Amino acid sequence: MKFLSFLKKKEISGGSNPPLRHIAFIMDGNGRWANARGLPREMGHKAGAEAFRRVVDYCIDLDIRFVTVYAFSTENWKRPQSEVDGIMKLFVDFLNEGLLGDKDKKLRIRFLGDPARFSPEIQSLMSEITEKTKDFTYTLNVAINYGGRDDILHAVNTLIKEGKTEVTEEDISSHLYTLSCPDPDLIVRTGGEWRLSNFLTWQSTYSELYFMKTLWPDMTKKDVDEAISFFVSRQRRFGDIKSK
Ligand code: IPE
Ligand code: IPE
Ligand code: MG
Repeated sequence: MKFLSFLKKKEISGGSNPPLRHIAFIMDGNGRWANARGLPREMGHKAGAEAFRRVVDYCIDLDIRFVTVYAFSTENWKRPQSEVDGIMKLFVDFLNEGLLGDKDKKLRIRFLGDPARFSPEIQSLMSEITEKTKDFTYTLNVAINYGGRDDILHAVNTLIKEGKTEVTEEDISSHLYTLSCPDPDLIVRTGGEWRLSNFLTWQSTYSELYFMKTLWPDMTKKDVDEAISFFVSRQRRFGDIKSK
């Protein structure tokens, strides 16, 4: 396995073989991280928010153009209200305070998922941020109230409203919440579960998958390097017999 220190960092998005344009993270393990310390689950989410900042910051340093994080699924509403409230509070903090100080000026922030579930105040903060950051270089997709099935249904229903009676793959791809983003090259899940839990169902067909035991709040740059080292060791064939 090649290790990242041997790669030129700036070559990852375009020059590494295979190129890594889009990395996605399933940020799992916050609750167990808190449990292990005898803390309430909310503290795990708070530590998870710090890890989120750390990892996105590092991905920019690595010149990865598209980063997607799974923050809250369409199924996570089933959790106790106090936990949901805690996560929403952290989301509002992120909306109000930004993520990375000066580096925020590089981040085009988009939200994946149906915003209708959020309060009008949160919805307007979300659209304000999307509008304000729309011309920046690096894309950060925050999947919140996101489900892969909901994404596909939403795309199909939009196409029906547009009057389509038959659709192509391109029609669906271009109506998903991810819009013009390339499909994720690599999906990393922390927390030791080997499943996608309704994440990027349409977009992940040819993604490389990397599952790690590390709990999300413990995620370090070295862990990101480990996932990327796995990725660059892959041969991606997309059904062909030669790697691309
Ligand atoms: C992921 O961590 C964050 C969300 C799903 C919001 P969890 O809260 O699922 O943590 P575990 O899996 O219970 O440890
Ligand atoms: C997936 O984690 C969702 C997010 C990380 C936001 P879950 O903890 O909800 O997934 P399951 O329930 O273990 O499949
Ligand atoms: Mg979990």
